[in-house]
Amino acid sequence: MPPSAWLLLGLLALAIGQPGLATEQRFAETPAQYQEVSQGEDVRLRCRVQDKRGQCIWQKDRKPVGMHPDKYEWAGARDGDCSLLVKRASLDFDDGLWECQVTPGDFTRQDALTSNPARLLVRVKPRKPQLEYAGAVLTTSLTLREGQEATISCVSRYGNPPALIKWFIGTDEIQPMREQSNATEVDNPKTWAAHSLLRVRGSRDNHNKPIRCLSMHPTSALPDVTESQFDIHYSPEVKLETSPRMLVSALEDSSSFISLRCISDSNPTSSIKWFKDNAPIMVSNGNVLPLGYNRTLANGTLVESEVRFEPIKREDAGLYSCRAVNVIGESAPANYRLDVQYGPKPRSLGEGSKGKETSLDVVEETSSLGSNIEPFECPDFEANPPAQFRWLHQRGGSTDTIVDNRVGDQQQQHQQPHSGRRLRLENVGWADEGEYRCVAYNVINGVRREMPSDLRFVLHVIGPPEIQARPSAETEDGMYESIGWAGEPVHRLKSRFCSRPPPRIVAWQWGSSHIRAGESISPKYEALPLEPILENKMVTNCYWAKLEIRELQREDARLYTLVVESEKGRDSTNLRLTVRDPTELRIIAAAGAVGLLVLLLLFSVGLYSLVRSRRKHREYRHEEEEGSISAEAYYGAAAPTQQNGTGTGSSAMSGMGMYGRKPVLDAGLAVMYDYDQIACKSRTAMSPEALKVRRAPAVFQPPTIV
Ligand SMILES: *[C@@H]1O[C@H](CO)[C@@H](O)[C@H](O)[C@H]1NC(C)=O
Ligand SMILES: *[C@@H]1O[C@H](CO)[C@@H](O)[C@H](O)[C@H]1NC(C)=O
Ligand SMILES: *[C@@H]1O[C@H](CO)[C@@H](O)[C@H](O)[C@H]1NC(C)=O
Repeated sequence: MPPSAWLLLGLLALAIGQPGLATEQRFAETPAQYQEVSQGEDVRLRCRVQDKRGQCIWQKDRKPVGMHPDKYEWAGARDGDCSLLVKRASLDFDDGLWECQVTPGDFTRQDALTSNPARLLVRVKPRKPQLEYAGAVLTTSLTLREGQEATISCVSRYGNPPALIKWFIGTDEIQPMREQSNATEVDNPKTWAAHSLLRVRGSRDNHNKPIRCLSMHPTSALPDVTESQFDIHYSPEVKLETSPRMLVSALEDSSSFISLRCISDSNPTSSIKWFKDNAPIMVSNGNVLPLGYNRTLANGTLVESEVRFEPIKREDAGLYSCRAVNVIGESAPANYRLDVQYGPKPRSLGEGSKGKETSLDVVEETSSLGSNIEPFECPDFEANPPAQFRWLHQRGGSTDTIVDNRVGDQQQQHQQPHSGRRLRLENVGWADEGEYRCVAYNVINGVRREMPSDLRFVLHVIGPPEIQARPSAETEDGMYESIGWAGEPVHRLKSRFCSRPPPRIVAWQWGSSHIRAGESISPKYEALPLEPILENKMVTNCYWAKLEIRELQREDARLYTLVVESEKGRDSTNLRLTVRDPTELRIIAAAGAVGLLVLLLLFSVGLYSLVRSRRKHREYRHEEEEGSISAEAYYGAAAPTQQNGTGTGSSAMSGMGMYGRKPVLDAGLAVMYDYDQIACKSRTAMSPEALKVRRAPAVFQPPTIV
């Protein structure tokens, strides 16, 4: 349809309505039920009327409002538009309920209009929120004791509409106690005071954390913030640290360095006190604590105190504790036990009767042969870890360590606290006689610390006579053999025996003859007086019995019997004397010459066979030496003069390693005493009775002595 047609229709309508057919006026648009405007800004209250014939009127809070240029102006240009422009909105004048009204077009019609009241709210930015506690404004900090509860409030005043309040502690939003309350201000009822309450509890975790109250208001995109800070007063809490932090090795007396550090957390700061075994430590106390100090750390709640041991001493061992005190209270103690290890030290004297005992420096004990005894106890030693003990047996210039395993086993069975402190000897033999020493030891950080005792222990053995010699390897019947040479001026048979009490009878027998020690059958035989054997400068219960035979002849070769008898029993042994003719030497020499010839022959054959033949020859020579000298060694080599004569023999012997041969002492005698052999004997269980009858062949031969 062309626009001209529309226009035509419009005109027609006007023409028809004009004479009284006009329709009633009505609202095409009414003001918005609720509208906000910030103070000072313009706002348009919209109102349009259809078929308007009356006049537009505005009412605010049921009172008519007149037009004032630059304040209230008509906003609508067209007819029927009653919109009102409120310029520079003000809370006092413009905030309220507005109505748009239209007078009737004709009084007969009664078609006046009035809109529903429309709320125009003039927004007013509230003041900065305020924190309050106990009726006072909270500014810098909120001081609470730990565990104390408090209700703080935040109020946002003179805002329109009321501000929305939110709470934050640290970075966490906290819900208020209940929904905020909005109340109109008494002195300015158009504005609001918004109150919000928060319940807080003093907790040390919250110390120094900020408390924030945020007020959100439509006048600003950003919230307004007021903040305070917790200041929680709490009692100290301590912890103890060592430096170095990890102890990789045990602390050792006078060599380890360590410090203990006590750190106290409290507010307000605390003072730290140190205790050792529950007694306060004096700062000036010995080597402890010369460097203890207080130091306040970073955030003002930590205080540190240190005790240094440079180096640690044995007396420093103990339970260390630190406590801290502040106005709120005292901490529980933090403990650290220092264990200081040290090598054995003799336990200090002056403990009453015990002191007297240890003032003796020799302890003597007598025991029967073959018995099991625990004769000695080592003096007590202080040591950490507890001392273990090792026993030394000193004899003949050598020192044997008594393996502590044997004693250790015993110890485990009896659960004794000090392992090996008591010397235990099983099946005591003559070899066990002599002096003992004990050594206390412990192991600190893998290193053994030893301390010998000053005490000397001497063991005496009581037993029936026991002849100590060993069968020669030469003789299959297990007899003792001595080899002499025909024409030898003096040949000496000798044997060692032990007996306590001393023997009543020591006699040599052969054929129908017998002589006692100290007697002689001149000029040929002489039984020398008994020689007590000295060991370690101490007289033992062992003796040498010696029989000298002069002008040795072939006829002297025979069995000689040595009989030793005491009140405890008797022992005897047979010695076989073999006499060789010196002419044999020549034969041997001839054999040697032949050997040399053979050697030369073989030399020409070749290097390989030479080497072989040499080895053979050496074996031959060696055997010969060994055989002749071993017997000699037992029964022959006695006086130093003789020994010198057989110098090659003694070196050969030591090379053989069978004898513990020691040139001894004051007497100038060559004492031969095979400790290994004797030790073995004594370890095999043998009663004194068994010892008596051990040498049966000798006993069968009745002695001719009375
Ligand atoms: C108080 O005002 C805030 C912000 O206008 C509103 O969110 C809250 O619902 C109001 N509370 C009450 C109890 O009227
Ligand atoms: C640590 O401080 C407390 C109190 O402040 C004081 O009594 C104490 O002597 C101080 N200790 C040291 C080692 O300085
Ligand atoms: C103070 O600092 C220490 C370590 O620097 C920390 O463990 C502690 O939590 C802090 N205390 C407070 C209240 O911030």
